Amino acid sequence: MTELNRRSIRRTGLAVSFLLCAYLCSSAVTSPLFSSAAAETSAERGFRYLTTKAYLTPDFDQEVFDKLYTTWEPAAREAAQRATPAERRALTFARYGLSEFPDSPRATALQYTPAPAGGWTMNCLACHTGRVAGRVVFGAPNTQYLLQTLTEDVRTIKFATGKKFTHMDKGSLLYPLGGSIGTTNAVMFGHILLNFRDPDLTFHADRPLPKLTHHDADAIPWWHYKYKTKLYVDNFAPKNHRALMQFLLIPRNGPQQFAAWEREYQDVEAWITSLEAPKYPFAIDDKLATAGYQVFEKNCADCHGRYRAPTANGSAPSLLAGEGAGERRDAAATTPHVNSYPTHSTLLSYPERIIPRTEIGTDPVRLDAMSRPGREKYAATWFTHFGNDVTDLDPGGYVAPPLEGVWASAPYFHNGSVPTLAAVLESSTRPKIWRRTLDGYDQTKIGLEAESLSELPPADAKDYRKRRLYFDTSLPGKSAAGHTFPDALDATQRRAVLEYLKTL
Ligand code: HEC
Ligand code: HEC
Repeated sequence: MTELNRRSIRRTGLAVSFLLCAYLCSSAVTSPLFSSAAAETSAERGFRYLTTKAYLTPDFDQEVFDKLYTTWEPAAREAAQRATPAERRALTFARYGLSEFPDSPRATALQYTPAPAGGWTMNCLACHTGRVAGRVVFGAPNTQYLLQTLTEDVRTIKFATGKKFTHMDKGSLLYPLGGSIGTTNAVMFGHILLNFRDPDLTFHADRPLPKLTHHDADAIPWWHYKYKTKLYVDNFAPKNHRALMQFLLIPRNGPQQFAAWEREYQDVEAWITSLEAPKYPFAIDDKLATAGYQVFEKNCADCHGRYRAPTANGSAPSLLAGEGAGERRDAAATTPHVNSYPTHSTLLSYPERIIPRTEIGTDPVRLDAMSRPGREKYAATWFTHFGNDVTDLDPGGYVAPPLEGVWASAPYFHNGSVPTLAAVLESSTRPKIWRRTLDGYDQTKIGLEAESLSELPPADAKDYRKRRLYFDTSLPGKSAAGHTFPDALDATQRRAVLEYLKTL
């Protein structure tokens, strides 16, 4: 190998391994959230680790955050300039898809943990917790996150102020982080990180990179975790707490470090397992939903599972009218966080079926991007207890997901290509290009409030930052085709099923 190659691979390895949830050790954690540490449950500890332990090196400091607005286009920049510091923070949060910690705002956004020596450190919630209809829902995919744009703007400020580049700044020069709002290239990050490891996770810098197919994915709602026996949209990985540690694969973390952190990730898994789906907060027509239940049982349940029939009590507009019977606004007995909506559980049985790619017909790029050698590599590692937990090397399709809380997990399909449930149910109405509003919720079509376009406005098409605010289904990996099963329903049945889906 030439020195140049070696250097570039080392550089690549280093940058890659710093990507995202790459976690570092930090000193003892103390949390202001929990007064009686002795009574803390495993789930509570897991939540505490995720939200207060800065495992990773910080991506930027407060000074960089405060200057981000100076990189914006003139009108936005001037508005931010005139704003108070609190308003400017809110504008910055809105711009990049960040949210305040509900009920107890902190120095950083919810998606970033304050580092012990100051600074913003990315955590799992960056992709796995965001706002739905304007309120934070723990475990909901953060569909407003603009990781690539945030990283570029951070780099611009660091460059201008002479600050050192860190892992994200470098990694994003080598790999795309995410091409459209709310979706990321996370699957390839995992693939790259594992490339430099032996099965026992010993690190080697000098491994050539495998073939990479960069593509964006929508995160999976965490409240489904408890129902699944395998992980990811193709169910390829065995489910265990070790799988949650994949992003700790930075060069300095060898086998001992993974063993040392394993306990903490058992707690993280306990918290994720404790999450429940948020309850639909707007009006539901119970009679129509009951008709939809029949249609669902007949046409959808064999793939998606069976759920409770709607009850007038259970489907009242709970958020607006206060809490009804059986609702939990904050499931404090089992979970340590405060959800902004009441939560519930409606699932009775779930078959966890993989639907072959030709039958489902949704975008195939994700399936092929997780190549056979990549899957074999994962199958042999510490993450699977060296093969004791079985990996599926050729799933051949996507798993039909549980639909609990489906109103809150828009956009739909594994690539986040369809903004509303109405469009999932009628494939001819799926927009070719769409652009969401920040916090708007479409109570008619159920899902993101979004405008549909047939082409990008020419001025926005030329601006790479504006382009990311649109979802263009003609781009590779972003097709909204497939899953045409509901097309067989007539308009009345479709309307009824849509109403029923609100009750899940
Ligand atoms: C950059 C965004 C991003 C970050 C950060 C991130 N994830 Fe994810 N996560 C995803 C995406 C995208 C998927 C779906 C991938 C797929 O199945 O193809 C996913 C899937 C998962 C799943 C599978 C869920 C299921 O039902 O199958 C789990 C569990 C998970 N992530 C846990 C974590 C944990 C724990 C962390 C922090 C250590 C984390 N993630 C950080 C983007 C992210
Ligand atoms: C043959 C099995 C099958 C049938 C029948 C089926 N689905 Fe699906 N459904 C799937 C699969 C597989 C996916 C995941 C596709 C993907 O992400 O690429 C899916 C995805 C979805 C999603 C998107 C979920 C999300 O969070 O992204 C919704 C909503 C949905 N289906 C509703 C329905 C309804 C309603 C019916 C009945 C009218 C139905 N499906 C019938 C297999 C099926």
